[in-house]
Amino acid sequence: MRIYLDTANIKHIRHGVELGVVSGVTTNPTLVAKEGIKDYKAVVREICSIVPGSVSAEVTVNDPEGMIEQARNIATWAENVFVKIPSTIDGLKVISTLARENIKVNQTLCFSVNQALLGALAGSTYVSPFVGRLDDIGQDGMALVKDIVDVYKKHELKTEVLAASIRHPLHVVVAAQAGADIASVPYKVLIQMMQHPLTDIGVERFLGDWRRVSGSGD
Ligand code: G3P
Repeated sequence: MRIYLDTANIKHIRHGVELGVVSGVTTNPTLVAKEGIKDYKAVVREICSIVPGSVSAEVTVNDPEGMIEQARNIATWAENVFVKIPSTIDGLKVISTLARENIKVNQTLCFSVNQALLGALAGSTYVSPFVGRLDDIGQDGMALVKDIVDVYKKHELKTEVLAASIRHPLHVVVAAQAGADIASVPYKVLIQMMQHPLTDIGVERFLGDWRRVSGSGD
């Protein structure tokens, strides 16, 4: 399973890539606004030059013609850019049009197996079930990830499952167990994934014991 960062923060993306574990990025208009970014194209291009894998940039209009026009433009920004299209009826038409033009689509805001099934048939490269937002309304977001993975496997659909709206490290564990291809995580969750109090206590104890026997602070 690959780990992507769900952010538009360049510092965090550089750090994730330096750690050798982050291979792609997903963004959305909310994340871009959070960073106070004005030049969307410039920031997406910069992110594309930092990460080895794909970078998802979302359309910011809602009519099919507008989405297609914007997506065609976004697709020219970099080789590794994917366009995020919402899981709507209009979105479906847009996805199939773009797929015929070999433009890579990350089908976003997916909340049901049927949306994922139709998106895959239309030609989405990724489908993004929003786990945390389903949990927020009292539904099991990770059950949706599992169900999509099962249906895609059963019917040999090649769309990849990107677990999105990840809120905590346990989401990543369950996404991995469910067979998701990618988990796109906030930077905070990436850091939390590597933290364990017993590791910190163990490091302290080893260093303390070493200082005692070596008689030095080194
Ligand atoms: O990039 C889409 C997504 O991951 C949103 O997450 O936490 O706003 O539901 P969240």
